[in-house]
Amino acid sequence: MIDYHKLAEEAIEAKKFAHPPYSNFHVGAALLTSDGKIIHGCNIENSSFGLTICAERVAVFKAYSAGIRNFKAIAVASDDENFCPPCGACRQVLMDLCGDIDFVMVDGKMNIKVFKLTELLPYPFGDENLKSK
Ligand code: THU
Repeated sequence: MIDYHKLAEEAIEAKKFAHPPYSNFHVGAALLTSDGKIIHGCNIENSSFGLTICAERVAVFKAYSAGIRNFKAIAVASDDENFCPPCGACRQVLMDLCGDIDFVMVDGKMNIKVFKLTELLPYPFGDENLKSK
């Protein structure tokens, strides 16, 4: 089993730049690439609430916009004492753009829980479903 403590610390670091003026719920994500780079993301809220974006998607979109396409894991930390599971939209985006990577949840005591994305999003919709089009 991979030791994800360093990645967990990076997620906590990423949380420092969170911008959640409405929920006051700070979230940080650290995305680990196949060649060992770490890309940070944080949640960024908007006064038009539906335009808010989660930390996970910020990290993935930052990676894609830098031409990075291969990933191993993503760690996520919030300022709540409990683990922060990803929302449904992030599960879909991560599966689609990163594949079945490890999803590492970090709680307020630095405990870690690791899931495969397919555990969090079984039977996903993906590009295979569009092949007949
Ligand atoms: N949020 C994330 O950034 N990631 C998650 O995994 C769960 C929720 C953010 C979105 C919003 O800014 C705030 O947390 C409350 O939902």
